Amino acid sequence: MHTPNSKNIQAISKILNNESRPLKERFRALFTLKNIGGEEAIESITQCFSDPSVLLKHELAYCLGQMQDPRAIPMLVNILKDKNQDPMVRHEAGEALGAIGSEKVIPVLEEYSTDAVIEVAETCQLALSRINWIKNSKNLLHKFSENPYVSVDPAPPSEIENVNDLKTILLDEKASLFDRYRAMFALRNSRTPECVLALSEGLKAGGALFRHEVAFVLGQLQDEISLPFLRASLEDPEESEMVRHECAEALGAIAHPDCQTILNEYVNDKEQVVRESCAIALDMCEYENSLEFQYADTLNA
Ligand SMILES: [Fe+2]
Ligand SMILES: [Fe+2]
Repeated sequence: MHTPNSKNIQAISKILNNESRPLKERFRALFTLKNIGGEEAIESITQCFSDPSVLLKHELAYCLGQMQDPRAIPMLVNILKDKNQDPMVRHEAGEALGAIGSEKVIPVLEEYSTDAVIEVAETCQLALSRINWIKNSKNLLHKFSENPYVSVDPAPPSEIENVNDLKTILLDEKASLFDRYRAMFALRNSRTPECVLALSEGLKAGGALFRHEVAFVLGQLQDEISLPFLRASLEDPEESEMVRHECAEALGAIAHPDCQTILNEYVNDKEQVVRESCAIALDMCEYENSLEFQYADTLNA
């Protein structure tokens, strides 16, 4: 691939910022900009924060965090502070600040760690714990299990290896959220069926922020074992839309034919963020299945 120039970035940015384009195309444009990185890409992404789609905006913030470029900090701080933004978007901005990991944002994270929206408050508490953890354990990194995914996680994996012990912490609502997240990422990194089942049980534990992260991690794992659990949460009208949205996307990543059937049922859900997630997830199904075909073609060649 050629190095993308300014003209390419502008062309991709136009797709991202064009409300009349299908959301799936805009998502692809966003991920391309994330991978290109740099100041221009960050600017194109930040321009999009006045869009009506909460799903798209929360993904903008997520991508800015994953890019780990401090130039995105001012915009992310504005989004975190902006009470007119949806809690899902504000949450993702707080998490992104944690992912970038700069100690400069400690005061603002402290301020919003008591936000009236519990998911925003908890996100800021986690982000603070992550930044302080990095500060205190720079030399210990090699002791932890490796993240097989490319994601920057909101917490490091726990150093505990016993699955039952990890599961106990994961489901312990009295334990700190940071420790429960650490158990979650250790379970994910192990990727055994036993770990996937333990994580799936987490979809029934408190609270909503925690459950949405469990669903996200199950999407990374792409293991069919979790399918009935993700389905149950997507189908639960009492469940928070933040969790249902993440379950829909995880089902899209698993991409089993049953996932397509389930997602088609919820593509007209009463919650916009769930509807849009199902549309994106169906696109993910298609993509995953096309990868499989490519793989099958290589085997047949
Ligand atoms: Fe999130
Ligand atoms: Fe999400």
